[in-house]
Amino acid sequence: MAHQLIVVLDFGGQYSHLIARRVRECGVYCEVWPYRASLDKIKNAEPLGIILTGGPKSVYAGKAPRCSADLFRLGIPILGICYGAQLVAYLNGGEVRAADVGEYGRVELTNLFTAAKLFEGVEQNTVCWMSHTDFIARVPEGFKVTARTPDCPCAAMENESRKIYAVQFHPEVVHTQAGTQILKNFLYHICGCRGDWSMTGYVARTIEELRQKIGDKKVICALSGGVDSTVASVMVHRAVGKNLTCIFIDHGLLRKGEGDKVEEICRSRFDMNLIRIDAGERFLAKLAGVTDPEQKRKIIGEEFIRCFEDIGKEIGKVSFLVQGTIYPDIIESGLGDSAKIKSHHNVGGLPDVIDFEEIIEPLRLLFKDEVRKAGIELGLDEDLVWRQPFPGPGLAVRIIGDITREKVAVLQEADAIFTGEIEQAGLSRDINQYFAVLTNMKSVGVMGDSRTYDYTIALRAVSTVDFMTADFARIPYEVLARASSRIVNEVKHVNRVVYDITPKPPATIEWE
Ligand code: XMP
Repeated sequence: MAHQLIVVLDFGGQYSHLIARRVRECGVYCEVWPYRASLDKIKNAEPLGIILTGGPKSVYAGKAPRCSADLFRLGIPILGICYGAQLVAYLNGGEVRAADVGEYGRVELTNLFTAAKLFEGVEQNTVCWMSHTDFIARVPEGFKVTARTPDCPCAAMENESRKIYAVQFHPEVVHTQAGTQILKNFLYHICGCRGDWSMTGYVARTIEELRQKIGDKKVICALSGGVDSTVASVMVHRAVGKNLTCIFIDHGLLRKGEGDKVEEICRSRFDMNLIRIDAGERFLAKLAGVTDPEQKRKIIGEEFIRCFEDIGKEIGKVSFLVQGTIYPDIIESGLGDSAKIKSHHNVGGLPDVIDFEEIIEPLRLLFKDEVRKAGIELGLDEDLVWRQPFPGPGLAVRIIGDITREKVAVLQEADAIFTGEIEQAGLSRDINQYFAVLTNMKSVGVMGDSRTYDYTIALRAVSTVDFMTADFARIPYEVLARASSRIVNEVKHVNRVVYDITPKPPATIEWE
C-alpha cells in the first residue's frame, strides 16, 4: 500500500535533506525533488502537501531557481521555508528585498498569531533559527503576517483559504524551539496526514515485497562490513533465507578484527550463506610502492572488480544483485553537482562484472538514521548499526605514503587503542568519526635510555552533521593522554602521537 506523500521541492538549501528527515520523523513519508519537477509530475504523485526549501540565491536575481507560479493554484497545501517563503511572496505578487542587516542564529518571534493553524500549541516569544539577508518587505494580497521578529516585519505569513503558509525561519533546525510542533501542525492539521510512515511497517512491508519478487530465485549481495550493505543483506536474508549468498571481499585494509566480526555476524548470528575472500595479499601486491592517494583509490576500486569477476565466473548467472544504496545517494540535487574532491570507489563497477537480471535496493528510500532504525528492527546490535563511516579503500587512505603489511598492522593496533578509549569514555555517539592515521613522518624520541627514530600517529576525531563540513572534536585531555600513552607504549614503531585540530574545510576528514 502506498504511503501518503509530502513533496519537498529542493531549491539548493543546506537544510533540504534535514527537512525531509524531520517530516519522516513526524511519521509522514516524503521525498526530495528538484525544484524543476514538472507540475504534471507533482499532480500525478498526489502529494498531500508541498514544502519549498531554503536556497542560497535571492528570489529576484536573474538566475534564481523558481518553481512555476501555477504550483500555488493546484489547491495542494504549501509551506515555504526561508527562500521558499520568499518565493511564496515573490510569485504571488509580494515584494522581497535585501535588508541592511541580516538575521543569523537564534531570534525571538514576536506578535505570534497563535490562532493560526500553523502555530497551534506554540507559545508567544518562542525562539527560532534564522539565516537570511533578504526579507519579505510586502506580503501578497490575501496574505496575513502571522509572526514578526524585532528586525523582520514578516517572519511568517499565511493565506488560510488557499492553504499557503510561509515561515522565514527554519522549523527543521533543532534550535527552533517549536519547530517540530510547527511541522506537525502543517502535516497533520493542514495537509491532513494520518502518519502512516513507521520503520516497523516499512521493514515488514519490504520483506514481504522482496519475498514476492525474489521467490525461489538466487540473489547475491556484496558485503563491505558497513551499515548499509549489512542491513540490506539481513533484510533480504529475512525474506529469502538461503537463496541469498553474501560475498565479502576482505582487502586486508579493514580495522583490527573487523573482517572476523563481519563473518561472525553473518554466519553465527544470522546463518547466512557467506563467501569470504581473503584478498589482502593480492591488494597489497598491487599497492606496493604506490604513494598517490587517488592512485591508491583507483587500484583498490579496480582490484575489487577483478575479484568480483573471478567470483562471477564461479557462480554464474544470478537473478538479482542486492545493493545497499540509500536515499541520499539517489536524491537529485536541486542545483547540480559540486566539485569532486576525492573519488569514492566502493563497489561501484560491480554491476558490470556479475551476470544478473536485476538490481535490488531495499534501502533506496531510507535516510541513514532510518537505515539504523531498520537495522535495529531486524535484530542487529546497536554497536553495529551505529558504526561510523569507513572509506571503501579502508586503511589505505589512512597510511600516508607507501603501504606495507607492517604499516597496516601498526595502524590497526593504534586505531584499536584510540577507538577503544573513545568508546570507554562514553564519547562514541557524540563524535561522528574518529580514527588513527599513520603519517609517513619519523622523528626522534627516547625510550628508556635509548634514542628512537620512529613513526608519528595522528589522531583524528570530528563532529559533523553531514560530513561535508566538520570541526575537530573537543576530546577531554585525559582521554587523549590515555590514548597517546597507550599507543606509544603498546604499539611498536610509534614514538609520537599528535591530535589533528583542523576543521573541514580547509582540511578533509580523511588525510588522503
Ligand atoms: P573527506 O575525507 O572527503 O571524507 O572529508 C568525507 C567522508 O567520506 C568518507 N570517505 C570515503 N568513503 N570511499 C568511501 O566510501 C572513499 O574513498 C572515501 N574517502 C573519504 C570519509 O571517511 C568521511 O566520512
